[in-house]
Amino acid sequence: MANAATAGVPRRAAERAAKLRAALEEHNYRYYVLDAPSIDDAEYDALFRELQALEREHPALATADSPTQRVGGAPAAEFEAVPHRVPMLSLNNAFTAEEAGAFDRRAREALGVDSVAYAVEPKFDGLAVGLVYEAGLFTLGATRGDGYVGENVTANLRTIKALPLKLAAAQVPVPRYLEVRGEVLMLKRDFERLNAAQAAKGERTFVNPRNAAAGGLRQLDPKMTAGRKLTFFAHGVGEVDWGAHKRPPQTQAAILDFLEALRLPVARERTVVHGLDGLLGYYRSIGAKRDALPFQIDGVVYKVDALAQQAALGFVSRAPRFALAHKFPAEEMATEVLGIDVTNATLHNEDEVRRKDVRVGDTVIVRRAGDVIPEVVRVLVEKRPKVTREFVMPRKCPECGSAVVRLPDEAIARCSGGLVCPAQVKQALLHFAGRRAMDIEGLGDKLVDQLVDAKIVRTPADLYKLGMAALAEFERMAEKSAANVVAAIAKSRKTTLSRFIFALGIRHVGETTAKDLARHFGKLDALLAADEPALLEVPEVGPVLAQSLRQFFTEAHNREVIAQLRAAGVEWPETSPQRKAAGKLAGLTFVLTGSLPTLAREDAKQLIEEQGGKVAGSVSKKTSYVVAGDDPGSKLDRAGELGVPVI
Ligand code: IVH
Repeated sequence: MANAATAGVPRRAAERAAKLRAALEEHNYRYYVLDAPSIDDAEYDALFRELQALEREHPALATADSPTQRVGGAPAAEFEAVPHRVPMLSLNNAFTAEEAGAFDRRAREALGVDSVAYAVEPKFDGLAVGLVYEAGLFTLGATRGDGYVGENVTANLRTIKALPLKLAAAQVPVPRYLEVRGEVLMLKRDFERLNAAQAAKGERTFVNPRNAAAGGLRQLDPKMTAGRKLTFFAHGVGEVDWGAHKRPPQTQAAILDFLEALRLPVARERTVVHGLDGLLGYYRSIGAKRDALPFQIDGVVYKVDALAQQAALGFVSRAPRFALAHKFPAEEMATEVLGIDVTNATLHNEDEVRRKDVRVGDTVIVRRAGDVIPEVVRVLVEKRPKVTREFVMPRKCPECGSAVVRLPDEAIARCSGGLVCPAQVKQALLHFAGRRAMDIEGLGDKLVDQLVDAKIVRTPADLYKLGMAALAEFERMAEKSAANVVAAIAKSRKTTLSRFIFALGIRHVGETTAKDLARHFGKLDALLAADEPALLEVPEVGPVLAQSLRQFFTEAHNREVIAQLRAAGVEWPETSPQRKAAGKLAGLTFVLTGSLPTLAREDAKQLIEEQGGKVAGSVSKKTSYVVAGDDPGSKLDRAGELGVPVI
């Protein structure tokens, strides 16, 4: 494809360069936009180097849209101001279903229709940019700035491989002038990698992918931006001159399809819904997928689909009336560490505190996703006060003064106080009342605190002696809720053997083990009478567990509590022992990580257990298989280290 610019270059070289450019852009598109590469890195590198060599030999071939020219140009002294031809406005936010309902009602009323069609898509948690394509060539890219004037970050944007330098003309006519609006982001996995690399170098880590992306986009040296691995998603257009296009898109959904046909990255999770039910259904479905998405989102965006209706609705101050951001609750928040406390019987995981080097006075990022227990993700070291001390595990239990012991090979330090430690008693009661144990609704930590502190309850058996009178003593307890707790305690008397065993809170006896024991022995007395060899006959029970069970059941105090519970009327159907008929997965232990495409984790667990397999929480040498879904966690790395097969 020789032209004036490549005059003097041998035709074969010019043709080969054009082929290579097209092939490399195709592979970039497949890799970065479709996430479906068709060649491996080495093949890509070979093509890339061949093109570089050709361009070195014939500099006229190094056109601006060549994939080799993504990182060109010298660092800038500062970013030049760019006025936006169409202002980049913001969105009104909704946090509740009611607010979303009000938005839909106003749109219906203003348009005089019964139901509105909405184009809906994720709200990317990134940085807004506008990209100008003139005759299909990427010529200018700017940040949002104040909405009217942004900064010219063209050289940095060129390094983003998901962003085409030249629009594909194959499927749709390329507009004469097109400003694409969208967000620059960093994928979660690239963020994790970046932070791991920063930490390894002893450098500052980033709070979240958005901050890392923002820093990357505003690097004065494009080479630094290239190192950050950013990506881009388009969600709309600014000014457009459709040129030869006969029937330009009439809806937001059609605009996104059009951008997709030009090979710009557009959210796959987009769709069109009708009315408020459609909006809320979409909100919930994306909320459920949020963790599994490869990028961070902070909500969903609803846009009236028909452009004519959008125009009719217009704008109020700086936000459109035709669009709304429906936000998700924040998952990560910064907070200050006021103290590192003993949480109940478990005196914290010392190694975790040490590894993350959490100190009193630090600002930390706390993450809570879905139902999981909040976790300290990382310390913002740059905010650390001048004087802090590394965390040291106390030697005495701050609750009862007993010695703190940490057994060799165990991650967790424990108070040795047992039943003299009120914190342990409280925790044992909460465990006993838990949903998977005796399931006593309404017996929460506040009430347990009060009952134990007032010395009304010392053991689980004492719960069954509680009457309205005792509960009503607590001023904060309304009569109705006292009655509810009494009723819930009474109801819990009818239970199952496995729940009862689990409720006792025996070390190492989780729900699964409790089920195995109940099935194997059928009756509590048979379990109480079992010596270590008899316990070891249970296929899932090993020496540590057998010893722990014997220790618990030979302790006079524990036998006494069990007798009192039975005397108080706690009962379950007893069965004959079911020595296990080996299922297909008998004897195998599985560890699940990441999100599985078609199964909730609980369902996968049940399927495995039904086949006689076991599901464990962490990977060890004994693990038979690790089942990894999308975005697997550190368990996958651990499987690699230990050579455990991965499904
Ligand atoms: S549409 C008139 N769609 O959110 C404004 N914005 O809070 C039209 N954002 O500045 C914006 N994901 O940068 C739209 N799918 C999405 C979005 C999105 C993220 C950003 C956008 C905007 C900000 C407004």
